[in-house]
Amino acid sequence: MCGIIGYIGNNNPINILINGLKNLEYRGYDSAGIAIKNEKELQVIKSVGKIVNLEEKIKSLKVIESNLGIAHTRWATHGKPSEENAHPHTVGKVTLVHNGIIENASELREKLVKEGVIFHSETDTEVVAALINKYYEKDPVKAINKTLKEVKGSYALGILFIDNNHLYATRKDSPLIIGLGKDENFIASDIAAIIDYTNKYILLEEGEIADITKDKVVVTKDEKEVEKEVHTTNMEKDAKDKCGYEHYMLKEIMEEPVVLEKTLKPYLEDLNKLPSLTDYEEIHIVACGSAMYAGMIGKALLEEYANTKVEIDVASEYRYKNIIYDRKTLVILISQSGETADTIAAMRKAKENKVETLAIVNVKTSTIARESDQKIFIEAGPEIAVATTKAYILQVGIMALLAYKTALTKGLVKDNDKVLEDAKKLPRLVKEVLDRKDEYKKIAKEIYTKEDIFFIGRKIDYATSQEGSLKLKEVSYIHSEAYQAGELKHGTISLIEDDMPVFAILTDDTIKDKTISNIEEVKSRGAKTIIISNERWNTNDLQVVVPKISEYFQPILIVPTLQLIAYETAKLRGCDIDKPKNLAKSVTVE
Ligand code: F6R
Repeated sequence: MCGIIGYIGNNNPINILINGLKNLEYRGYDSAGIAIKNEKELQVIKSVGKIVNLEEKIKSLKVIESNLGIAHTRWATHGKPSEENAHPHTVGKVTLVHNGIIENASELREKLVKEGVIFHSETDTEVVAALINKYYEKDPVKAINKTLKEVKGSYALGILFIDNNHLYATRKDSPLIIGLGKDENFIASDIAAIIDYTNKYILLEEGEIADITKDKVVVTKDEKEVEKEVHTTNMEKDAKDKCGYEHYMLKEIMEEPVVLEKTLKPYLEDLNKLPSLTDYEEIHIVACGSAMYAGMIGKALLEEYANTKVEIDVASEYRYKNIIYDRKTLVILISQSGETADTIAAMRKAKENKVETLAIVNVKTSTIARESDQKIFIEAGPEIAVATTKAYILQVGIMALLAYKTALTKGLVKDNDKVLEDAKKLPRLVKEVLDRKDEYKKIAKEIYTKEDIFFIGRKIDYATSQEGSLKLKEVSYIHSEAYQAGELKHGTISLIEDDMPVFAILTDDTIKDKTISNIEEVKSRGAKTIIISNERWNTNDLQVVVPKISEYFQPILIVPTLQLIAYETAKLRGCDIDKPKNLAKSVTVE
């Protein structure tokens, strides 16, 4: 959600801030703004829509000389996207940008209004600016500290004071790092924002406050100085470039063979590097969105082939449910960003109950990566397109290996050599599947004018259908639903109309003939079925046939076809593929 960048140094900050915002735009893109300042003046410029609008506006204005600034790209939570609600917000001597949500904003606002503060926006952020301003006498850190004691919720803040030329930052439950350069320093909600300038950074921990000048960073907690470790990222500068692809989504799908090789290789060489699930009596999988659907594949595999009972829940439910932890439990958290607010809360709930946690996570510096007891890193590299693709495939790959290892430990694997051989073939097979773009374009042409689509499948194929359906609807805006193939006739089948596309996922040999009957049911009501399978069927349906491999890894060949169909469909509909409307990467609010 929302992105923050800040700069202090010898250079004019505007280009640096705009470049940083462009690299963060995938985190939120309904409005943006910057504040720049020098010893005497401060100037705020904001605009609605994409960063280019802000860039154009800045070019059309007379801007002050400066070497210090903060900037923000917004994904609206409190108040609609508008210039008034866009950040930075100024109250009195304080100007700031904010990621996160202040939960007690209304009561604080009411109090401040009674004290005479006039607010100009509907945001929770302006309340924080007003509080800091209220407590600010001479010492910025003291004023920030006092404010933090009153606000509840999540925040990453970049703060400027009119009468002081330092940059201040603090955070809780929302990421923020301090980038270290030569005679210049930065703040950023994501390393991608500053990777063009430095690869060295400090991780700001919960409740710490940083006082930053161009050559010094002083971090304090409760007004006591804290020693901070300097980290170096190995992110390549061009990792965030499109490398000639029209969209990040396409680039990231095409990277799947390479990242699969990188992620799975160490475990295929030595399965003992993976945690042992047989040490636990109960497994819970908790995640959101696509990561949860990757978890559903894991659950299907663990139950079917490793005889292991698994509970699965979306994190936003799990965190508030009465979970009975009466057996030795492992909570597996799956998250690309490692910053999804609900997944973090679920992890903390498990920890508070002294239950062990295992994170399957991409961003190594993230909260989930840092706080989870055990972790398995997927090597997706930066994922910029809002819709996840390569990270999902890797999450499924790790879940498949965990299920396989569990089955092996329990003596349940029948054809050990074949499973491992198939796993090693995955990068090559995925590449073969990805190279068949014309087939996906043909299907996209069949469906792009439709407004409703169904996906059906049973057991593991239902879990795969869920991801196919989500990908299609989020990037193409076609209404789509995934159903267990046998369930459709209990009501939903009344929606089937002539020529309505229904994707049938058909890979699980134990249940294929049942799904075939369900295909006939929808066809006889006019549906146009598209079969995605690991064998060719003697029908006149449109079909995509992928190589048949071990059941553990079959979804890794099916989902890329669905990702490319979603991509091509969205392209034909002229959608903003990398930044679908209303969405943001990394959902750091509840
Ligand atoms: C869909 C998508 C989301 C994420 C979900 C969890 O394409 O990207 O559904 O999977 O928001 O995000 P992470 O994995 O960062 O916790």
